[in-house]
Order: sequence, then C-alpha cells, then structure tokens
Amino acid sequence: MTTEASETTASVASPLRWVGGKRWLIPKLRKLVGETEIAAYHEPFLGGASVFLALGPFSKAHLSDTNVELISAFEAIRDYPTRVANKARAYARDEETYYKVRASIPGGLIESAARFLYLNHTSFNGIYRVNLAGTYNVPFGGERIAHIPTAEQLRAVASRLEQATLKADDFAKCIDRVGAGDLVFLDPPYTVAHNENGFVKYNQRLFSFEDQRRLSKLVDEIKERDAHYILANAAHDSIVELFDKGDSVIKTSRRNSVGGANAIRGSAKELLFTNLETAG
Ligand SMILES: C[S@@+](CC[C@H](N)C(=O)[O-])C[C@H]1O[C@@H](n2cnc3c(N)ncnc32)[C@H](O)[C@@H]1O
Repeated sequence: MTTEASETTASVASPLRWVGGKRWLIPKLRKLVGETEIAAYHEPFLGGASVFLALGPFSKAHLSDTNVELISAFEAIRDYPTRVANKARAYARDEETYYKVRASIPGGLIESAARFLYLNHTSFNGIYRVNLAGTYNVPFGGERIAHIPTAEQLRAVASRLEQATLKADDFAKCIDRVGAGDLVFLDPPYTVAHNENGFVKYNQRLFSFEDQRRLSKLVDEIKERDAHYILANAAHDSIVELFDKGDSVIKTSRRNSVGGANAIRGSAKELLFTNLETAG
C-alpha cells in the first residue's frame, strides 16, 4: 500500500549508487524507445533502477534482481519512503557510525532499507559485496560528503514504483510475465568467453558465460512473444556471436568510472542489441 508517494512525470533519479549503473546511457535509450507504445515494462537486472526511473512512468512494470536486500529496499521505499529516508539520513556520516551500522542486524523492513541506503552512499564506491556468510563487508568510503536521498526524492521513486511488481528472482523467470507489445530491458553483469577473469562476481553468485547462454535463450523467447527487447552487453566477439539475432547492434561507449572523481579508468565499449526500430 502506498500512501506517502507523490505524483511526478519528470525523470526520477536512482536512489542508489550501483556498479554498472546505466544513467549515462539514458539519452540514447530514450531516443531508441521514442514513441513506441509499451504494454508493460520489464527489467530483470534491476540494480539501481536508473533506467526504469528515467524511462517511465509505465502503466505496468515488472522489476526483479537476484539481490534480495536490494529488492526489499525498493519495497520499503515504495511503501514507506519518508520513514526510510528519515532513518537513513539520521545516521552520522562518519567512519565510526559506518562500522556500527554495518555490524548491526536491522530489526524490520524500514530499518533494513535505511541501513542499505546509508551503507550504499557512505561505503567505498557504493559497491555491494558480501562475504561467504552473506555479511556486507565493503569498507568505509572516506570523509567525503555523502548525499543520502531526501524524503522528497524517495517519494518520487515511490510514486514510480506504485504500478510495479518487485521480485527477488533469477532473470529467466521474467518470461512468465512477458506479453506482446511489452519492452524488456536487459542489463546483465558483463561476462565474456575466454576472458582470463572469466566471470563477474555479484552477490555470492557468479554470472558465468553459461548465464549469457541462458540470456540468449530468453531473448529468443521474448521475440517469440512479439515483445521488444533492449540488451546492454560487452563489446566482445563471443557476445556478438551469441546475440546475433538479425536485429540492430548499436555501439556505445562511456567513461569507465565505478564512482568517485578519481576512479575514471578510460573509455569502455559496450553494445546495445535491440529489435526496436532504429532510425538510420
Ligand atoms: C549491471 S547491474 C544492473 C544495473 C542497472 N541497470 C542500473 O542502471 O543500476 C546487473 C544486476 O544484475 C543482478 N544479477 C546478477 N545475476 C543475476 C541473475 N542471474 N538474475 C537476475 N539478476 C542478476 C545484480 O545483482 C545487479 O544488480
């Protein structure tokens, strides 16, 4: 039940810092979607939700991610935005408090979300990482001024989430809800074949090249249902080969920054695969 949400039609910023976040890609995605009528929107690698929040509002949306803490934080933001913001902003943004909050075991949905939001904004680069026991173990981000979203900002997010379902689930499950005329935005962790590192670690689970193969099957199923897809992925031969569906492939690049002004590590190439009509 959402009682605290405020109405807005303007673009809404993500309440989180998220590795692999696609805020930088939004102008391109907006152009790509253009005036396409979308029956329902799906985002099964939700992360910080920056794309859903920027492209919406949608009359119906299905959002999921395997990160259970992330999904329950969004549920709490949807239902209690003011209480979550007030609690998260009440913690002091210093090293001592950071480690105290990190070591704490939150009591309920609102406290868990406030802790998640606080740690996300005060930790090192906003990375989400847990140890084998499932305990968040990212160090303090240093004495920079962390901006934790205000109650007003979270109410804008909550308003967008009103028409959305949220699920902690593997991406492949999203197909059960996909119908004709829907749009599925896919933003997996990037993994390529024959790479020394071979995988990207998110949460306690690896996103392997086998997962990329499962994702390729999902794209086929989306197409069979006469739905649209946009897939962001690494610009690598193994990926191009796997996702060659006879659709459009668009090159994009960004400054590869995980966060923080000193973390810029040059330019990375990425690809967008889509069956939406592309101009030119
Ligand atoms: C690149 S991030 C998405 C970033 C998001 N587009 C944004 O702008 O913030 C990839 C996300 O996929 C999630 N993930 C990893 N493996 C998954 C799986 N098998 N099914 C669903 N989500 C998964 C991670 O938890 C992470 O949040």
